[in-house]
Amino acid sequence: MSNPLEGIRPIRELAIENKRLFLRVDFNVPLEDGRITDDSRIREALPTIKHALERGARVVCASHLGRPKKGPDPKLSLEPCAARLAELLGQEVTLPEDCIGDSAKKVVYDLRGGQVCLLENLRFHPEEEKDDDGFCRELSALADVYVDDAFGAVHRAHASVHGLARLYRERGCGFLLEKEIAALGKIVTAPEQPYVAVLGGAKVSDKIAVVESLLARAKAVLIGGAMANTFLSALGKNMGASLVEEDKLALARSILEKARDRGVEVLLPVDVVVAASTGAASGEVVSVDAVPAGYMALDIGPKSVEAFARRFAGAKTIFWNGPMGLFEKAPFSAGTFGVARAMAASPAFTVVGGGDSAAAVHAAGDDLASKMKHISTGGGASLELLEGKKLPGIEVLRVGDAK
Ligand code: 3PG
Repeated sequence: MSNPLEGIRPIRELAIENKRLFLRVDFNVPLEDGRITDDSRIREALPTIKHALERGARVVCASHLGRPKKGPDPKLSLEPCAARLAELLGQEVTLPEDCIGDSAKKVVYDLRGGQVCLLENLRFHPEEEKDDDGFCRELSALADVYVDDAFGAVHRAHASVHGLARLYRERGCGFLLEKEIAALGKIVTAPEQPYVAVLGGAKVSDKIAVVESLLARAKAVLIGGAMANTFLSALGKNMGASLVEEDKLALARSILEKARDRGVEVLLPVDVVVAASTGAASGEVVSVDAVPAGYMALDIGPKSVEAFARRFAGAKTIFWNGPMGLFEKAPFSAGTFGVARAMAASPAFTVVGGGDSAAAVHAAGDDLASKMKHISTGGGASLELLEGKKLPGIEVLRVGDAK
């Protein structure tokens, strides 16, 4: 499909005036002691919510939060999100005690045009994750129009992102979902060349499908983070006490061979920052040929950052997923932040996959986030889209599929 948004109606084309609008958002935000530590996902949903309110819709926002397993869990209440949303919108956001049933109906039916509520955590009902038809029908009793703006959840075939959407003829996507599909879809279907990808994170096993997909599309793949240890070890380097996936060495070798056959350059670190433990107060830069016994690589070194940054020159598309090291700890953050800085300085179409890499760009400071062309709000969803998979929450929005 040349246009990844084909058949998906954007909210601006839907008749929402004075209608009850079910708006699936992804407010699965990080919480510490009940406080939101990063509200990006709420902020990113604002354009759609404001648009709907300005057009007089009665907006029923719904989201999951965390992974409650045994029904309602007060620690995973969406209350902090409702409060934050109210602050950001400057208007009241009511939170019924449940997402279905009388409490939800009461709040939803009382809404007037231009008012908004947030249903309580959808995952307090196990039926949500089972894509249960009865649960979908209960949710559908709350609204006339369905809009999905929860990019982070579109890889889940769950009730609120899948079965529920199928019950609506009048369904479509919000601005965030539209932006995510357009940006990530572009680098899967027609990336402007040269396309350079940077992959990091702990495990090769998490990224196999993405690497396969990149070998068919990118000119160069730069690998850092702990997953680089496995590749370096596969090439015969002694990585000391570093995290190495011993059972993935053969896989790493076959990926390198495949890359060579396809003419895709793979760049691995030439130096790393090592320490005896992850709690060390400082690290030492060594060549990948000289990792001392008992020491572990916890970041890529300055020469590697330089080499990666050089590879960005002339690139027209750059995609990055996965940190280069343990960036949450200051002694091991320079590699990740250095790559983020080099990427932000590039005029290429720069896309950051969600999760840790997005957090790293924000943590790097210098307003680097605003210099990237797109930072995805989805972790798993952005990776699965990059793998070239069809995602249930996106496919169900294409018209012609209503039950
Ligand atoms: C995410 O944070 O990636 C999304 O909100 C999906 O959450 P999940 O992995 O718990 O389904």
